[in-house]
Amino acid sequence: MILVTGGAGFIGANFVLDFLAGSSETVLNLDKLTYAGNLENLVSLKGNAHHIFVQGDIGDRELVSKLLAEHRPRAVINFAAESHVDRSISAPGEFIQTNIVGTFNLLESVRAYWGALDTEAKSAFRFLHVSTDEVYGSLDKDAPAFTETHRYEPNSPYSASKAASDHLVRAYYHTYGLPVLTTNCSNNYGPYHFPEKLIPLCIHNALAGKPLPIYGDGQQIRDWLFVKDHCSAIRRVLADGRLGEVYNVGGWNEKANLDVVHTLCAILDDLSPRADGASYTTQITFVTDRPGHDRRYAIDAGKLEAELGWKPAETFESGIRKTVQWYLDNQAWVGNVTSGAYREWLGQQYGA
Ligand code: NAD
Ligand code: DAU
Repeated sequence: MILVTGGAGFIGANFVLDFLAGSSETVLNLDKLTYAGNLENLVSLKGNAHHIFVQGDIGDRELVSKLLAEHRPRAVINFAAESHVDRSISAPGEFIQTNIVGTFNLLESVRAYWGALDTEAKSAFRFLHVSTDEVYGSLDKDAPAFTETHRYEPNSPYSASKAASDHLVRAYYHTYGLPVLTTNCSNNYGPYHFPEKLIPLCIHNALAGKPLPIYGDGQQIRDWLFVKDHCSAIRRVLADGRLGEVYNVGGWNEKANLDVVHTLCAILDDLSPRADGASYTTQITFVTDRPGHDRRYAIDAGKLEAELGWKPAETFESGIRKTVQWYLDNQAWVGNVTSGAYREWLGQQYGA
C-alpha cells in the first residue's frame, strides 16, 4: 500500500482517484481537512476497501508513526501543504507550521520507520515530495524556462516555505540515505480545484454574475498543466525516478492571466451563455496587484520526458474546456465549498 498525505485536497484527491482507478493497491489517505480539504472530492470511493481515510496532521509524529507501523506502506507521497499564495501573504504562520515543521516531522517519522525495515523493503521504499515551480522565483520575459538546476529564489511566504521543505527532503537523502524523490510542478487546473485560485474563482464568479478580479495588469505568466497530467507524472516518477533526483513537471503552456480569463469567458459564452446575451468578459475587473507578485513562471520538463518518457496528455485548450464543463456539471460541489469560511476569505481578500 501507499500513504498519501493531503489526499482530500485538489491535487491529492485527483491523485487518489486516478491511482485507485488504475491499481488494486490500497491508499492510506492522511489529511487534516483544513478549509482546502474536502471529503466530497472522494465520495466516489465510498465503500471502496482500497481507500482508507484518516483525519490527522502530517506533523503529528505519534499518529504518523502509528499509521506507518500498522499499515507498512511501500511509499509516502507528500501533497499536504498550505497552498494559496494570497493566504500566505495575509497569514504566513500556518505555512511555516505545515509546510516546514510538518514536513520535518513527517520526515522524522518516515526515517524511523524506513530505518527499521528489512533490506528488501528498505531499498524498495520511496518518499515522494510534491513541490512547486514557485521555489525558483520569477523569470524575465525572454529567460529560458526553469530547469532542475535553476537556483532557488522564492518570493512569497508560500514559496519560501515550500523551498524550505524541499531542502529538508534533499538533506534527508544526503545525510540519512532516505530514498526521496522531489517533483516541482507548474500551475495545475482541473476538477476539484478550490475556488480561491484564479481559474475556479473566475468560473464561479462568472456564473454568479460577480467581477472577475485581475491583479495588476493581468500580464503575469503562468505555465498551466491539467491536474491529471500532474498525477500521471507523479506515478511515473514514483515508479522509475532516480533516487535523490528532482523532476520538473509542466505542460509547456505559458499563458498571461488575462488571456486565461478571456479563454474561460469564451468557453462559458459558448457552453452557458449569459441571459442578457453579453459576454462574460464584461465582468473582468482590474484590482490591486498581489504584493511581490511573480511576473513569470515557465517549466522545462525536458528531464522528465527524456529520462522517464512522460508527456502531458492534454493541451491547454482541451484541458480547460473539460475543466469548465466539470464546473458546470458540478455546481452542487461548488455550492458546498463556497460556504461561510470561503465567503469570509473573499471579503478579506477582495473587499466588498
Ligand atoms: P490544496 O490546498 O488544495 O490541498 C492541500 C491538502 O492538504 C488539503 O486537503 C488539506 O486539508 C491538507 N493539509 C493541509 N495541512 C495539512 C497537514 N498539516 N496535515 C495533513 N494534511 C494537511 O493544495 P493542492 O493545490 O492540492 O496542492 C497539493 C500539493 O501540490 C502542495 O504541496 C502544493 O504545494 C503542491 N503544488 C500545487 C500546485 C497547484 O497548482 N495547485 C502546483 C505545484 C505544486
Ligand atoms: O506555480 C505553481 C503554484 O500555482 C502552486 O505552487 C500554488 O499552490 C498554486 O496556488 C498556484 O499559485 P499561483 O499564485 O500561481 O495561483 P493562483 O491561482 O492564486 O494565481 C494564478 C495567477 O492569477 C497569479 O498570477 C495571480 C493571479 N490572480 C489570482 C487570483 C486568485 C489574479 O489575477 N486574480 C485573482 O483573484
